[in-house]
Amino acid sequence: MSHADEHAGDHGATRRDFLYYATAGAGTVAAGAAAWTLVNQMNPSADVQALSSIEVDVSGVAVGTQLTVKWLGKPVFIRRRTEAEITDGRAVELNQLIDQDAENANKPGEPALDENRTLDEAGEWLVMIGVCTHLGCVPIGDGAGDFGGWFCPCHGSHYDTSGRIRRGPAPQNLHVPVAAFLNETTIKLG
Ligand code: FES
Repeated sequence: MSHADEHAGDHGATRRDFLYYATAGAGTVAAGAAAWTLVNQMNPSADVQALSSIEVDVSGVAVGTQLTVKWLGKPVFIRRRTEAEITDGRAVELNQLIDQDAENANKPGEPALDENRTLDEAGEWLVMIGVCTHLGCVPIGDGAGDFGGWFCPCHGSHYDTSGRIRRGPAPQNLHVPVAAFLNETTIKLG
């Protein structure tokens, strides 16, 4: 059983789903990310750009669980949604939403339909920066909040199963970073 498998099944309290996991290059990536700001100001090079991407093995992520990886100093939630979560997310009309932009770096300017937020067409995989768009706390996952998605306890922001803000002070949906499947079990961030 891999490190990811052991932890992917953990649920519950605030931080128990907050697992830092990345592939073998993680140490290098972390060091590169720390140096990023300084180096980038002087001379953004292809080498530095390459360090801003990581590959994540999602083979141990069961349906209904979330893997959290640290990327460029921020948590990234990778959730494998249940059928119910997908159905709930896709049933929501645009006019029910506070932020009607998908906030998806892969689809700039698209409306915040669930289809425009998920990584795959079927909607099983949702990848988001795990930072509340209000003041930057890390929301709790695993169906938390009034809309069955994520809840930020700092000031009470509720996000739905698509990570869209539905109630509370946060102004925007949780951001979807540049991400893509490299193969069936590997997601590349950046
Ligand atoms: S930081 Fe999340 S609600 Fe304020």
